[in-house]
Amino acid sequence: MPSLTAPVPPASAAPLRSFLTLDQLGPHGLRALLDLTARLKRDPEPFRNSLAGGRLGMLFDKPSTRTRVSFESAAWTLGMLPIVLRPDELQIGRGETISDTGHTLSLYLNAIAVRTFSQASLEELAAASSIPVINALTNEHHPCQAVADVMTLEETFGTLAGISVAFIGDGDNVCHSLMQAAALAGFELRVATPPGYEPDPGITAAAREAGRATGGTILLTNDPVEAVSGVQAVYTDVWTSMGKEAEQATRKATFAGFTVDAPLMRHASTRAIFLHCLPAHRGEEVAAEVIDGPASRVWPQAENRMHTEAALLYTIVAGDPGGERLP
Ligand code: CP
Ligand code: NVA
Repeated sequence: MPSLTAPVPPASAAPLRSFLTLDQLGPHGLRALLDLTARLKRDPEPFRNSLAGGRLGMLFDKPSTRTRVSFESAAWTLGMLPIVLRPDELQIGRGETISDTGHTLSLYLNAIAVRTFSQASLEELAAASSIPVINALTNEHHPCQAVADVMTLEETFGTLAGISVAFIGDGDNVCHSLMQAAALAGFELRVATPPGYEPDPGITAAAREAGRATGGTILLTNDPVEAVSGVQAVYTDVWTSMGKEAEQATRKATFAGFTVDAPLMRHASTRAIFLHCLPAHRGEEVAAEVIDGPASRVWPQAENRMHTEAALLYTIVAGDPGGERLP
């Protein structure tokens, strides 16, 4: 890792070395990150240039609108230089190993945000890197999204403990990180998927176990109405995630009946909100009347990506989770 001029301390001082899955935060880490984000959103001035001289690599193997632009914007606010890298611009695209890439990038940067396919590749890169690695989405997890999701829930309801949230759709990356969020923050998550598209059993079992300490619970069902009944928030994601495009036609047929539309929303609490990580496909996983209607909080949710990522970068790179070193 290059040495930086003050005020950035060595990354080794950071209590959270890398951020590969949400559960790495633990309940206290998530609480600290949410509090720091709220502080930053209210008044970004003390954070401005707090990581001046820092450099953030951003390695994107898949497309991105929100994650890329919110991380770049967050890095700029903190005074870091964001460097966006695509595999076809790197030697990794010509066969250089993940490990050699991690070693090399660690010589120039202070952190790397990575969007890639398998969690195993991300972990390999993190193991070879001497700088923090942040998961900007893998096939299995999307932890940065989940932080913005819980922030949006807390802003809406004033609390996370004890609320009920339904996730309708594919039990993959976004759902997995939301399950871990329920376990850390102590809320009820009801997941409705078509048979065969349930979340990973290992991640589900671990989230259920972690939730025993916080009151967080996970219910799995194949019935969207059961999941939505009486909840305060309804969340969905695309039916065909990046990298699964070959399954698109099958998935469209299988997920029919899992659209979040006005009749389904009527089973939720009367003041229930609608969330979606975006990008959305109106007429598939969500009806336009819902995502563009009064219950929708998708734009505050998307905005919160930038605030949560700025707080996360500050936490990890400065090694100051409570923001105590800020003016
Ligand atoms: N929600 C999300 O991660 O969006 P992007 O794919 O646009 O980054
Ligand atoms: N599950 C989606 C999330 C996009 C932000 C995907 O992986 O494509």
